[in-house]
Amino acid sequence: MKMSVIGGGTMGNGIAHVFAQNGHDVTLIDVKAEYTAKALKTIEGNLARQVKKETLTEADMKATLARLSTATDLAAAKGSALVVEAVFESFPVKKEIFSTLDAACGPETILASNTSSISVTKIAATTKRADRVIGMHFMNPVPVMKLVEVICGQATSPETLACVTQISKDLGKVPVTVQDYPGFISNRVLMPMINEAVYCLMEGVAERDAIDSVMKLGMAHPMGPLALADFIGLDICLDIMNVLHDGFGDSKYRPCPLLRRMVEAGYLGRKSGRGFYEYEQK
Ligand code: CAA
Repeated sequence: MKMSVIGGGTMGNGIAHVFAQNGHDVTLIDVKAEYTAKALKTIEGNLARQVKKETLTEADMKATLARLSTATDLAAAKGSALVVEAVFESFPVKKEIFSTLDAACGPETILASNTSSISVTKIAATTKRADRVIGMHFMNPVPVMKLVEVICGQATSPETLACVTQISKDLGKVPVTVQDYPGFISNRVLMPMINEAVYCLMEGVAERDAIDSVMKLGMAHPMGPLALADFIGLDICLDIMNVLHDGFGDSKYRPCPLLRRMVEAGYLGRKSGRGFYEYEQK
């Protein structure tokens, strides 16, 4: 099947990687050729890591790369069975992308968003095919994490849900269907935990490493909540807390002032070289 992915960032290149590895022809689209070139380089590096671990053969790596093409114009998504948008979390940007895709693609195309916090219903309403718009929320790192949170907007049809569920299973993922409420399930449960960990740090209940050790060693989480916040990006964590706070109007979702302060300082986690931990800048 022909698939298109919009956005070559961490999520977009991971999604393109997984589609191509599973036999789909993928067009990766971003606004500049240098972004798609960088995305392809990242995919190549991640595939090489799989070859080194002997979970992929050299031949499969070559075949995967051959199934990937790039473009800088959304019109290149025409003829896709499925388009997954994975650009940054800005509704005006997504609105522009979805209305352009709606005009460019035939009626057979399902339009999905990898949004982690924007309403799928609101995105769908920017198109004339709300029944064929759905949320497909992959987790980072996409090639590793099994979950796809499949989000049904108000008008998503059962046929669209069935199709996206099957495609997700064929990728070797486990799709879980959820309804379109703020934060869906993943971030409604994950982000308050991270936010509470930041409160524990701010209030001096324990040091950073102690907080992370409690959750790693006591609850078998692969990363502690503060390390995970750095991995996700503190700005993204703050945005999602704000979405939960605004969406439910419940004070239990108030973002921790320390989280706000760190974002204001530009301490965004791994991507800025500093968050709760410090990182070597690549
Ligand atoms: N592509 C391909 N393979 C990758 C990869 C990538 N980008 N990144 C890691 N891997 C593979 C490694 O090759 C390794 O494979 P093997 O098990 O076969 O050896 C495996 O993943 C583990 O990687 P590492 O050994 O390098 O490192 P690790 O053991 O410390 O694991 C981790 C890294 C997978 C990130 C792990 O720490 C983890 O699972 N962390 C939690 C991640 C998480 O919670 N993600 C969800 C974030 S929330 C989100 O995404 C949604 C949102 O809306 C905010």
